[in-house]
Amino acid sequence: MRTDQDQPVRLADYQPSAWLVETVHLDVALNATATRVRARLKLKPNTAAPAAAPLTLDGDGLALQSIALDGTALPADAYTATPDTLSIAQPPQRPFELTIETLVDPTANTQLSGLYRAGNTYCTQCEAEGFRRITYFLDRPDVMAVYTTRIEAEKADAPVLLANGNLIESGDVAGTTRHFAVWHDPFPKPSYLFALVGGALGHIEDTFVTMSGRRVALRIYVEPGREDRAGFAMDALKRAMRWDEQAFGREYDLDIFMIVAVSAFNMGAMENKGLNVFNDKYVLASPETATDIDYASIDGIIAHEYFHNWTGNRITCRDWFQLCLKEGLTVFRDQEYTADQRSRPVKRITDVRLLRAHQFVEDAGPLAHPVRPEIYREINNFYTATVYEKGAEIVRMLKTMLGAQGFRAGMDLYFQRHDGHAATVEDFIACFADATETDLAQFMRWYRQAGTPEVAVTLSHDPKTKTCTLDLTQMLRPTPGQPDKEPMVIPLALGLVGPDGRDLPLRLADGRTVEHGVVTLTQPTEVFVFAGVPARPVASLNRAFSAPVKLTANLTADELRFLAAHDSDPFNRWQALQTLGSTLLTDNVKALRAGAAMRTDAGLIDALGAILAEPALEPAFVAQALTVPSEADIARELGHDVDPDAIFAARVALRAAIGDALGAALRETYRRLSGGGPYSPDAASAGRRSLKNVALDLLAAAGSAAAIARAAQQYHTADNMTDRMAAIATLSFHPVPERQAAIDDFYRRFQADPLVIDKWFALQAGIPEAATLARVQELTRHPAFSLGNPNRVRSLIGAFAQMNQTQFNRADGTGYAFVADTILALDGRNPQVASRMMTAFKSWRALEAGRRAKAEGELRRVAAAQSLSTDVRDIVERSLAPA
Ligand code: BES
Ligand code: ZN
Repeated sequence: MRTDQDQPVRLADYQPSAWLVETVHLDVALNATATRVRARLKLKPNTAAPAAAPLTLDGDGLALQSIALDGTALPADAYTATPDTLSIAQPPQRPFELTIETLVDPTANTQLSGLYRAGNTYCTQCEAEGFRRITYFLDRPDVMAVYTTRIEAEKADAPVLLANGNLIESGDVAGTTRHFAVWHDPFPKPSYLFALVGGALGHIEDTFVTMSGRRVALRIYVEPGREDRAGFAMDALKRAMRWDEQAFGREYDLDIFMIVAVSAFNMGAMENKGLNVFNDKYVLASPETATDIDYASIDGIIAHEYFHNWTGNRITCRDWFQLCLKEGLTVFRDQEYTADQRSRPVKRITDVRLLRAHQFVEDAGPLAHPVRPEIYREINNFYTATVYEKGAEIVRMLKTMLGAQGFRAGMDLYFQRHDGHAATVEDFIACFADATETDLAQFMRWYRQAGTPEVAVTLSHDPKTKTCTLDLTQMLRPTPGQPDKEPMVIPLALGLVGPDGRDLPLRLADGRTVEHGVVTLTQPTEVFVFAGVPARPVASLNRAFSAPVKLTANLTADELRFLAAHDSDPFNRWQALQTLGSTLLTDNVKALRAGAAMRTDAGLIDALGAILAEPALEPAFVAQALTVPSEADIARELGHDVDPDAIFAARVALRAAIGDALGAALRETYRRLSGGGPYSPDAASAGRRSLKNVALDLLAAAGSAAAIARAAQQYHTADNMTDRMAAIATLSFHPVPERQAAIDDFYRRFQADPLVIDKWFALQAGIPEAATLARVQELTRHPAFSLGNPNRVRSLIGAFAQMNQTQFNRADGTGYAFVADTILALDGRNPQVASRMMTAFKSWRALEAGRRAKAEGELRRVAAAQSLSTDVRDIVERSLAPA
């Protein structure tokens, strides 16, 4: 394990590698506890780096067996080997071949980084720094090599042997019970994209003919017997391949594309060249076991990893500071794919909900960092909402500012200029600047400055001159290490909505035009005067959430209801309702804290009723409109003195009021959307199910016994997991006997299916009542639970810490103590998963004083523990650093 002595890494210290690797020949003899890895590396001095350097290879917990240079064993005084480095002080300053033998134990690898066993399957995970746990190497993304991999194993143990690229040879090892396979990947790649898999796996296959007519074999490998659950993933893969051709002109490049689903995986999935490895949760789906949300996640993640083939693999990152270059861009690409496959406005709403729930919160707390960080102690801790989600928003803003054509021209130039190379964020932005002749120097601040910009807008109208004036001010608060900030480039899509509900033409009084309905702020304050505006309009700002900012427009409740009813931008219709809801909820939380009475908002409920009654709206949108801000949303809006019990109470009251006032319409909606043909995961059907289930949940929230009975009935009679899960989730919020009956039934039905039992864990961990902590503690002793499997940990402990606001944040601090204990128990085994769990404490400073003290106590207890991983130590110390 990496230890806390590791020095931080700084972007400013980047140096090209003194040595390059041209080819890698790996020879891996798989064995459960002693896998022998022979690596033959063709090394050469890097002419772009300072000359005559020693050679230092990275390792992590390795045991060197032998080392030879150009075929001759190296004398012991010519090199030094520790578990973490292998160095040759005076290597020949010319190309040479190094042969290194190491021995690794896949069974003992509980970190799930490097070569490990997931069940009985051998698999690898090398991003970011796992390759060095397999062999000594220049384990950095700007060292790109051509790999040939020979894998050998007992036939009975691992009948399937896979690695990156194309299969060039396979057969039996004569006179033994062993066999081998040789894979060759012609595309130079960094070590983090290396993968191999060995095991007894079933598969499904298909073919894809690329736009230039090349045939590609597609295979998805799964645990034998699960093949019938991989069909949707295959369908998603083909749609993603076609979309990348049509939207970006990008074609697949090898003869085969493989996906392997494994049961133990730290992340969601990994884009290894030609051999994606997936958490099985994001491959396997059947109507009985997967919800609509599971299907949508599979679709998006399959696409995401496939899209990396160009944005990440063909063009990779120069160093890990550039992580957003591949992740932010690829998230943008997968978001656009989903928007094209499903409903664009609904996709935007879900993405913005996610951005605010995770990224805005990160940006407001002690873990805030720029989209391109400048220093890290542990790179695994920078796979964050900021790098991913805000990184994607930056790419989206580029498209908004440059237009679809300009954006495509920039992307084409990027692929043309940097194909086969390791690039930087500057390289990427230069392609858009060059292709469209735009100065993007100030725009680069989005990569450097952490924090969420706040934009305040006031609108004034002068009927005499028929002008309307928007005064805009931007502000960016200090974040850790960045006390002073400079103004950002903020593209705001906007409309002025006239009294008839229609958009007015946008004509600036000074004669400038507003292209694509977007004004771009660059200064701390700016004024835009619009001409030809006879009556006071309502400003609809930041349409489609064109910039990831916090906007305060001080619209009246009447104006917000007007936008909710009439805005031509569906995102802002939803936003207007959220703003009304969030204002009411934050007011009521403050009232509860002050011992005062809560208020109601009949106008908001009328507006929701009107949305429910508008037949042309897609059900998925209506479901989003009826979903009031989450507990975490309200906490974020409050920003300080956060009392999760008061938030919960305010939210329960609003949901009850909606369910009560709109009861008839909700019952009618539920009735109308029930039934229908056999389950299909398509977006329209999923949208109908989501509205139906939101209606049922609101009716139950209003305390209707009939709704509880209907939920119980839906639970027991559902023919698909979406409806079954929605019903049991509704029941879970109410202390009724039907709840425990459904929980027990769920276990009996699905006990053979670990991915479904994860839903059972998460459901119970999310129950908002005092008995939940004891229930969760009890469940950690359940035979289906294991700290060794990340999916189990995330579904029980993760759900408790991240979804159950009132119980994780128990006033007595026992929720914090339980999660801290679990992190300490997990850290020695799997630091990556432990450190993710630690981020549940990231908003501790915003809590009311009593809980803040309890949370801080637990953070300090973790910080004081003996032998923490670098991963957890980094998160806990940054969390505690003085604000
Ligand atoms: N490259 C990452 C997976 C990864 C992350 C590996 C961190 C090692 C360390 C992959 O492309 C990815 O981003 N996966 C996401 C899902 C995606 C849809 C955003 C994940 O695993 O959560
Ligand atoms: Zn990714």
